[in-house]
Amino acid sequence: MKYSLNLPSLSNLEKKYVLDVIKTGWLSSNGTHTQIFEKKFSRLINRKHSLAVQNGTAALHLALKSLNCKPNDKVIIPNYTCVSNISSVAQCNAIPIIVEVEKETLGLDYNLVKKAIDKYKPKILQLVHVYGHPAKDTVKIIKLCKTKGVKVIEDASEALGATLNKKKIGSFGEISVFSIRSEKMIGVGEGGMISTNNNKIYQKISLLASRNAPYRKKKHPYWKKYFHLGEGYNYLLPHLLGAVGRAQIERFSKDMLIRKKQVGNFYKKIFKNKDYSLTQKIIKNSSPVFWLNSLFFKNLNKKEVIKLAHLLEKKGIEIRSGFWPMSDLKGFKSIYVKDKEKISKELFEKTLVLPSNVNLKYKDIIKFKKEIEKNIPKK
Ligand SMILES: Cc1ncc(COP(=O)(O)O)c(C=O)c1O
Repeated sequence: MKYSLNLPSLSNLEKKYVLDVIKTGWLSSNGTHTQIFEKKFSRLINRKHSLAVQNGTAALHLALKSLNCKPNDKVIIPNYTCVSNISSVAQCNAIPIIVEVEKETLGLDYNLVKKAIDKYKPKILQLVHVYGHPAKDTVKIIKLCKTKGVKVIEDASEALGATLNKKKIGSFGEISVFSIRSEKMIGVGEGGMISTNNNKIYQKISLLASRNAPYRKKKHPYWKKYFHLGEGYNYLLPHLLGAVGRAQIERFSKDMLIRKKQVGNFYKKIFKNKDYSLTQKIIKNSSPVFWLNSLFFKNLNKKEVIKLAHLLEKKGIEIRSGFWPMSDLKGFKSIYVKDKEKISKELFEKTLVLPSNVNLKYKDIIKFKKEIEKNIPKK
């Protein structure tokens, strides 16, 4: 496609660090570049510890495990999000409690969360920031969870660099997780990051991610190295990707973040139309990163939206649909907290996600608008 949804941004710095890894021959996990990457990542989001892992889904799984998520425990997740939020809960044989999102930022709705906590007494809640916008009720939900003894995993996979009340997204939850696959705010191909201020949780995550083998340091005797405490995973990020990650985090604030915000601001300026509008609002005291920009066609039906998407794709404009609501994914055992407003279903049927890559120019977004106006059914 001529206009991609998202593109990785690579430079000579990534090349330099990757070549360095090849020269040294240390391809496995825990290499120096990865360690520097983790430290710089922590600094960026104001957290004490970060651990680089193989993907965001693994990060969610580890986060749940580190909070002792057991079979039949209940975990609140939003209805409008990536499948990894529900599948990570399924991986623990726990029960996802699906709660509807609010209309402005597409984050979890506080009032519905409150009801769900009172009714289902969950152990954990996954709070997701969708498409780079800080979830509107973040502070209220975190406070509520604290008083009710519910642990919060903040999923900032789509919002690295965003802030709410001047505080970094990814520094609100007990644990925060990030996807760093190629099309995210930073990308290494396939990768993830887990961050926390809690030393005990960090130790537990590190252990679980490296096969739950506690005696792997140089100082330990060789005959203890194959002792394992129990179920564990092989989730650590390989050093080649850690090297890419280091370069990405070093370039992020002065390059990709600025260009991403610029593209988001172009969208904001160009799409002010009464029949369709940008799906999300910028709420007070928030600084979104516009990972993806999308339009909500309130006056079109599902068929018309699909037809419009096909016409745009013919013009080289890559389109992504909204998320399939978690409550409609029948392959998962879950409890859906019914709400009279079916926000996620409407979002799925009437949203088109448009190209948001860092290379887009003002004139490109103008072109998208022209193509939409030319092809949108007149009512
Ligand atoms: C909100 C959210 N959580 C989790 C994930 C899973 O990350 P990964 O694809 O790296 O497994 C993604 C995206 O891919 C995501 O958007």
